[in-house]
Amino acid sequence: MDDSSEPFGPNRQNEVYAGGMLADQTPDLPTSPEALAELARENLSPEAHAYVAGSAGSESTKDENRRAFDRWRIVPRMLRDVSERDLSVEILGQTLPVPVMLAPVGVQSIIHEEGELATARAAAELDVPLVLSSASSETMEDVSEELGDTLGWFQLYWSADRDVAASFLSRAEDAGYEAVVVTLDTPMMGWRERDVDHAYLPFLDGEGVANYLSDPAFRESLDSPPEEDTSAALWRFTEIFGDPSLSWDDLAFLREHTDLPVVLKGILHPDDAREAIERGVDGVVVSNHGGRQVDGAIGALDALPTIVDEVGDEVPVLFDSGIRRGADAVRAIALGADAVLLGRPYIYGLGIAGQDGVREVLRNFLADLDLTLALSGHTSFDELSRSTLREIER
Ligand code: FNR
Repeated sequence: MDDSSEPFGPNRQNEVYAGGMLADQTPDLPTSPEALAELARENLSPEAHAYVAGSAGSESTKDENRRAFDRWRIVPRMLRDVSERDLSVEILGQTLPVPVMLAPVGVQSIIHEEGELATARAAAELDVPLVLSSASSETMEDVSEELGDTLGWFQLYWSADRDVAASFLSRAEDAGYEAVVVTLDTPMMGWRERDVDHAYLPFLDGEGVANYLSDPAFRESLDSPPEEDTSAALWRFTEIFGDPSLSWDDLAFLREHTDLPVVLKGILHPDDAREAIERGVDGVVVSNHGGRQVDGAIGALDALPTIVDEVGDEVPVLFDSGIRRGADAVRAIALGADAVLLGRPYIYGLGIAGQDGVREVLRNFLADLDLTLALSGHTSFDELSRSTLREIER
């Protein structure tokens, strides 16, 4: 990583302002996530834009995710020597250089032709850890190559075909991923009105199925190879993508098929967090999938403190759904998250400018995060706690 890509706020500010002063340059991408989302709309097909921006039903959960942040305000502290800062955190015995991972987002080929390869290259440039979706458009092995030494976790959509699920787990381990994130909230797709209106499911166009079509167990289950009968392979994918019959007892299957730490994504109720710990799970991600699954669901940040209270220090708690700026990450971490996952904003960057776009979004996010940490009087994320915040009645 060269100096200019250090994720520290003043570096980024200096680079941008020097460009303005010396060369009359302004950044290629808008800085605000809202402006980024707007620009991405112009760069994506209507179907792809709807797929990314859309959520379940009335999309009230997506809005609630943002509203949940408004209740918590940071109370900055002064005169605390914030000249040196360490943004790293430890999770599952692994060091994350920043408390931010790229959230698993599938089918990135509909956003940019280089899809997850571009995302992984940007992650590697900045050493920002990435969680790769099962539904990626590039194979987990190819994405891992691009990540190099940058930390990668693999997100599992637990297939109804147990042989495929087992095969994904062993491939992820062989490819060098260092944890498995099992997404529990999507045994089937939520009711997404925009996608229904477009009659659009990218998988049926052959997007986001690279891990399946390349999988020996999946191929074994077909009458003829996907290269000969693509439609049959894609229909088979829709049949086995999720498994609505799963229950807590099934978690034992994961332990039998992987030595990697297992993290459950989509936890919103403290009783589920407790059950997860009792079943020997290594971590949880508090998330409502960006509001894409249950319309009317609780804002993810409103669920976070209840889960942190239940879990204490027993396992790490990660958080996503609604993270847009540095102050959002600071607030989630102050409420007890160990790290956050960034979702839609980097996808918009990918849509606008591929690898460069993801890199710019990340650099801005990390600059903002670093500055918010420092200006609120802290030099590391360990120093944040609920007392960093004040809850405001609105
Ligand atoms: C997702 N998300 C997701 N999650 C997952 O576990 N596996 C996946 O394949 C996907 N795919 C996916 C596609 C798209 C287009 C989006 C927007 C989201 C959910 C993702 O990991 C994360 O939970 C949300 O993106 C968080 O919400 P925000 O902050 O992006 O609004």
